[in-house]
Amino acid sequence: MTGAAGGRLASAFPGGFLWGAATASYQIEGATREDGRGESIWDRFCATPGAVANGDTGDVACDAYHRFAEDIRLAAAMGLTAYRFSVAWPRVLPDGSGRVEERGLAYYDRLVDTLLAAGIEPFLTLYHWDLPQTLQDRGGWPDRATAAAFTAYAETVARRLGDRVRFWTTLNEPWVSAFIGYYEGRHAPGIRDLGTAVAASHHLLLAHGMAVEALRAELPSTARVGISLNLSPVESAGLDPGAAEAVTRMDGYLNRWFLDPLAGRGYPADMLALYGARAPRIQEGDLATIAAPLDFLGVNNYYRLVVRDDPAGPFPNVEAIQPEGAALSTMGWEINAQGLESILTRVAADYSFPQLFVTENGVALDDRLEGDGTVHDPGRIAYLEDHLRAVVRVLSAGAPLGGYFAWSLLDNFEWAFGYGKRFGLVYVDYPTLRRLPKDSAAWYGDLIREHRRLTADTAP
Ligand code: FCB
Repeated sequence: MTGAAGGRLASAFPGGFLWGAATASYQIEGATREDGRGESIWDRFCATPGAVANGDTGDVACDAYHRFAEDIRLAAAMGLTAYRFSVAWPRVLPDGSGRVEERGLAYYDRLVDTLLAAGIEPFLTLYHWDLPQTLQDRGGWPDRATAAAFTAYAETVARRLGDRVRFWTTLNEPWVSAFIGYYEGRHAPGIRDLGTAVAASHHLLLAHGMAVEALRAELPSTARVGISLNLSPVESAGLDPGAAEAVTRMDGYLNRWFLDPLAGRGYPADMLALYGARAPRIQEGDLATIAAPLDFLGVNNYYRLVVRDDPAGPFPNVEAIQPEGAALSTMGWEINAQGLESILTRVAADYSFPQLFVTENGVALDDRLEGDGTVHDPGRIAYLEDHLRAVVRVLSAGAPLGGYFAWSLLDNFEWAFGYGKRFGLVYVDYPTLRRLPKDSAAWYGDLIREHRRLTADTAP
């Protein structure tokens, strides 16, 4: 960050604000067959012809399993005060339940210790989509028993890392797990059935609630427990007939279906009516379990949605359009910081989670490695600056926002898009696995160091 403008941005953040970058196990670790790790649904999905662009797999990814210390050095050089990572369930319990793999736990032990030694707060996610394949074979998330298996897994990890990890997130983006994995089929396990997806969403929420209870029992009282949801503000493309209802349906499908039960309001009645016979089988006590009080809500946001009614289209009969003149990332997502401001403002106004974190926000661009090892990504710097200014506006309005995590520390395996999409602050040269910080890493680092200097923050 250069000059007074950067100083002004840094000074707008409160002391103790967590500055992070986020990652996920399957996207960075590689070493999928090492140290007793079991197969995950993503290993199986990647092996399915045509499922992932270019036939890419997570077998090597960024090789973070072996190179995590280098990654933490890069994070520390940027001044990051927090690092969001996920634990791979099949490393810890190769069969999903039962036998614990000590070598898997030992890896996360080393990771956490290295973070703490670097002065970086570990921000742990228990589930970022890599379900053990054995559990999928027994029914996966559409099967209620998976919630109990998740709870036992959560307990195992908490017992091992609870003395050092303060921030615990149960699930990452259960909407994506349920509806992209079991309805659209674009993610593992590649199933395409709406009723199955709705059942999965209920069992994910149930798993979350059961795990919160287990974590509370296992962890010291200083631990903070939450969940990360992918949320987007939904706007109308115009005033056509059905436009307002289309907005309500999309908002119900993506946002309220998760926010409402977590906040103790149960499932939204309009969505239950739309699902009809596909509505979940809710047992007595489920809604109370799902509504277990949380310490924070993690908001993952990349874009706003502009929609119109699409009666002939698939459920929820909504078509998302790109507004004319919209600037797009290489994902085809609209770049518009106003969307982040709207969703945070709305969640703060309509719900009363004690604290919010932006647990993911970032942009994929067409980054090029120069001959001298540099990567110039002014588009990402502009994105970060605009989105952080949006965060400042939300903070000034009084929202309890505790931190911001850029997606991602490193370029990595972008699910069905493979390695073609680069979101990192740090460029990964896949043939050599060399890490090369982009200009945006320097910019983010300058901002963070300036903020820490101003607030004398030596966190954690
Ligand atoms: C989110 C995922 C994350 C990453 C970003 C781009 O939905 O949580 O793993 O793929 O999108």
